[in-house]
Amino acid sequence: MSGKPALDAIAPDPKLEVTLRPALLDQFVGQARIKERLDVLIGAAKQRGDSLEHLLFCGPPGLGKTSLANIVAKAMGAAIVTTSGPVIEKAGDLAGLLTTLNKGDVLFIDEIHRLNKNIEEYLYPAMEDFRLDIIIDQGPNARSVRLNLPRFTLVGATTRAGMISAPLRSRFGLVNRLDYYPASDLQQVVLRSARLLELEIVPEAALEIARRSRGTPRIANNLLRWVRDYVLVRSQPPVTPEAADAALSMLEIDQDGLDEMDKRLLEALVHKFDGGPVGLNSLAVSIGEEAGTLEEVHEPYLIMEGFLKRTPQGRVASKRAFDKLGLKPTGSQQQLF
Ligand SMILES: Nc1ncnc2c1ncn2[C@@H]1O[C@H](COP(=O)(O)OP(=O)(O)OP(=O)(O)O)[C@@H](O)[C@H]1O
Ligand SMILES: [Mg+2]
Repeated sequence: MSGKPALDAIAPDPKLEVTLRPALLDQFVGQARIKERLDVLIGAAKQRGDSLEHLLFCGPPGLGKTSLANIVAKAMGAAIVTTSGPVIEKAGDLAGLLTTLNKGDVLFIDEIHRLNKNIEEYLYPAMEDFRLDIIIDQGPNARSVRLNLPRFTLVGATTRAGMISAPLRSRFGLVNRLDYYPASDLQQVVLRSARLLELEIVPEAALEIARRSRGTPRIANNLLRWVRDYVLVRSQPPVTPEAADAALSMLEIDQDGLDEMDKRLLEALVHKFDGGPVGLNSLAVSIGEEAGTLEEVHEPYLIMEGFLKRTPQGRVASKRAFDKLGLKPTGSQQQLF
């Protein structure tokens, strides 16, 4: 590489730890289809001198929703105001946010599925007609005041696409679902981050970290930081596949990237519930985790990797789950597959 790579992705204050968050669409690895769509939308909006359509990003934690929201704003040369669904409690909060925006600016609402229903109603005309009718005062003095808003862009992010009401969803010009990343993409994420961290790593070691990152860039970066520390103390650069493996084994992250909680979930499913089917809540209680976290964070990856199935009767272990635990399914358990 010539000179310092991707300096613009490094935090302005050199004393701060470098940020690994991509700042430009070109630095954002993978998700080719989403990037292409955004590229078209951004290009067209710029050519027309128009603001960008409202965008929704859905998908499990750590796949790049917040990063994309920031990338989009930057690409449009717009300011971004960031908030989160549960923080907006009153119509006045929303009005306060919307009235700070200039034409083309981005209002980013994270966890938009947790927006209060009442606030959602206010958001509809704001998104569609760029106006907000709010009631001020109470009792006989109550009156409605109309605020005209600049043509802003709402960017919503959610880990629970299913919890977005149909009317809200339909007001987004583009809905993007982020998928788990294949290992080859995560390898690129790890190599990019290693460059930013000025850490020497061989490509096979980056792939080893990638394979164990549950398809998630945030996890890949976290594991890389851990491997960096491990190598600093126990070994020496460059990071080799052996060093990466030793470091990750120390965290009890196995070859499939499953962590403690994933394994506890599979063990409970197989041992306590005979492979299922079992309801989500019972499963959650049995391992002391919140049902929502299991559903949003752990299950999607286990399902994608074929360890678990969701059926109308409940969660069911797959053959791969039995293999993973080194167990042979009994005759009745085999009926599950
Ligand atoms: N496509 C990508 N290329 C490079 N790095 C990425 C990519 N996606 C995510 N990352 C890295 O992962 C980190 C987490 O991403 P981000 O915060 O955008 O995820 P998120 O989807 O908003 O997660 P959450 O649902 O928890 O808010 C980023 O800081 C960045 O370092
Ligand atoms: Mg986020």
